[in-house]
Amino acid sequence: MDLKDYGIDMWEEEKILSFRRTLLAWYDKEKRDLPWRRTTNPYHIWVSEIMLQQTQVVTVIPYYQRFLDCFPSIADLAQAPEEQLLKAWEGLGYYSRVRNMQAAAQQIMSDFGGQFPSNHQDISRLKGIGPYTAGAIASIAFGLPEPAVDGNVMRVMARLFEVNHDIGDPKNRKIFQKIMEILIDPERPGDFNQALMDLGTDIESAKNPRPEESPIRFFSAAYLNGTMDKYPIKEPKKKPRPVFLYAFILQNSDGKVLLEKNQETGLLAGFWSFPLIEYRLAQQMDLFNQEQDQLLEQGSPQSLFETKYHLKPNWSEQVFRDVSHTFSHQKWQIKLVSGQLSAHQLTGQQYVWVSPDDFDQFPMAGPQKKMVQSYLLGRFT
Ligand code: ADE
Repeated sequence: MDLKDYGIDMWEEEKILSFRRTLLAWYDKEKRDLPWRRTTNPYHIWVSEIMLQQTQVVTVIPYYQRFLDCFPSIADLAQAPEEQLLKAWEGLGYYSRVRNMQAAAQQIMSDFGGQFPSNHQDISRLKGIGPYTAGAIASIAFGLPEPAVDGNVMRVMARLFEVNHDIGDPKNRKIFQKIMEILIDPERPGDFNQALMDLGTDIESAKNPRPEESPIRFFSAAYLNGTMDKYPIKEPKKKPRPVFLYAFILQNSDGKVLLEKNQETGLLAGFWSFPLIEYRLAQQMDLFNQEQDQLLEQGSPQSLFETKYHLKPNWSEQVFRDVSHTFSHQKWQIKLVSGQLSAHQLTGQQYVWVSPDDFDQFPMAGPQKKMVQSYLLGRFT
């Protein structure tokens, strides 16, 4: 891999040394005091890095502490029941992160005698640990000179070297990895990586950069050439796919509401929800032009439910606010439908009847929490 092939002129050794000194001196003065910066325990650093992958620092702080209180050791995490695991992660989203962490904890117990592996290759083999996280843990916990290249680092590097390659395209990651392998300070790799994280999330942020305040502005080609607003190159992302769903709020004669546990392996596996049925909008639109009773037969939420569950609840006219929730690749648009059903009509481990006061005892993801809000609001109006 030669950076010249990508139009990048790497600096002379002296400039590299000066860059490291400048960046680390700034970090020593300005670094944020964060709980995971007071430890070199690889388990703790691992937890923080996984949480921070898709979530902002301010949100992560309380979760980090609670998670470690709940699962003080890798062995505790490896053995934790699923419900407890999801509860500890509830609200953070991207739940595959915590499932992968548990699988990796089990790997550490079986393959490494419960000790977090201390070399980059073994760290990289753990479930859910990609190149960024492996680099972060290797450098921060073990002092290994491994880059941790994420979007923030790519943005800073793209400005430093005027990189004319899309930072959103995974195949360009190797360019930034290579730049970082050359720049990283071999004495303080963890601090070097974290200095760039701090810079990338604040002074060199994507939305509101403050280039005049950057400690490394005089190293930056984009700053010196007045091209800051051109870099990084980033093509717009695809929009999330719309998914249309009906949610069924079914009450029994005790005022308890039916929750169903998601049995699938994908998004939101293991979470509890009001029963959900996906429908297609195009079909639905066609049906709107037809007779009302025909609509009911072919595609109303009620008939979809009756067909899927072989049950006929006593449907109600109660109206609830629609709910919308955006995941990275899907946008859910949910209509709530309610009715009465007797409790004995649905049995099986995946069903529970719950008093609305007890909803919070069941792990629920973002859309479900919003549905609960809509239901609680609608109930009194
Ligand atoms: N984002 C990801 N890892 C981080 C860390 N160690 N410190 C601050 N922000 C981060």
